[in-house]
Amino acid sequence: MSVNSLVDQYAVFGDPIQHSKSPRIHTLFAEQTQQPLVYTAQRVPASDFTVAVSDFFAHGGKGLNCTVPLKELAWNYAEHLSARATLAKAVNTLKIMPDGSIYGDNTDGVGLLNDLKHNHIQIAASRILVLGAGGATRGIVAPLLAQNPQQLVIANRTASKAIGLVQEFRSTVIAACSLAALSGRQFDLIINATSASLSDDLPELPENLLATGGSCYDLAYATQATSFVRWGIAQQAVKSLDGLGMLVEQAAEAFYVWRGVHPDTSTVINLLNAERFNKS
Ligand code: ATR
Repeated sequence: MSVNSLVDQYAVFGDPIQHSKSPRIHTLFAEQTQQPLVYTAQRVPASDFTVAVSDFFAHGGKGLNCTVPLKELAWNYAEHLSARATLAKAVNTLKIMPDGSIYGDNTDGVGLLNDLKHNHIQIAASRILVLGAGGATRGIVAPLLAQNPQQLVIANRTASKAIGLVQEFRSTVIAACSLAALSGRQFDLIINATSASLSDDLPELPENLLATGGSCYDLAYATQATSFVRWGIAQQAVKSLDGLGMLVEQAAEAFYVWRGVHPDTSTVINLLNAERFNKS
């Protein structure tokens, strides 16, 4: 890889990476804040991760985003971790420090919180359900807990995985269960953190799970409404959103980690929404 040393280089690594919106988002941020930088996307399978990251930084790269399936590997790779990355056991943002060491952070949780805030969806004192117990859930549990929900239930198809995850967080408001055990319960906010939407699938959910006035949020996003967003609309959710806003918000936090400047996210979210709306 050849890295032009005149302009600071950033990239996103992942597999698949073809449809990543991160280069577009960071290029918009760079234009908006007048930061001279280049941001590219590179397909990096898990087996090539260490070599690819070492090569990128050895050739002058300044910062990396890591996405599926590389976040746990990035967590292992980083020499220093932010408190939120330590808790998440996953890293989506790597940065080279002035002494050459590699710092790892996780901006996914704060990205979700910021997007929920922009959409006026309240967490404090609410009953929150998170579907799924994989890497995506791991990144958002601690930030959600920090907002003092009334309850935070992690429900997973494989209940044992949810139980194991919940045991890592010492809190009286968090609990784990199977999807079937949700029957008869109600929540004010249901967050889909399963990978089901990626294959236009939906976790099996009981009737009347969403309380009147409640909202739904899918961490995944697509050009069209995801299966979970459609489910939320069918449940008469006040808001049924996908993760495009979170994607832009986590990118803005990563941009801040690297450049020390907070870009304006609303203009970028509005632009990307308008673009996909025009395509559909
Ligand atoms: P990620 O890093 O995106 O979270 P992951 O760690 O592979 O990916 O986790 C995927 C999550 O989605 C898991 O909780 C998985 O449930 P299982 O632990 O039972 O496998 C969940 N998941 C994926 N497809 C699903 C489906 N069709 N219905 C319900 N849950 C599903």
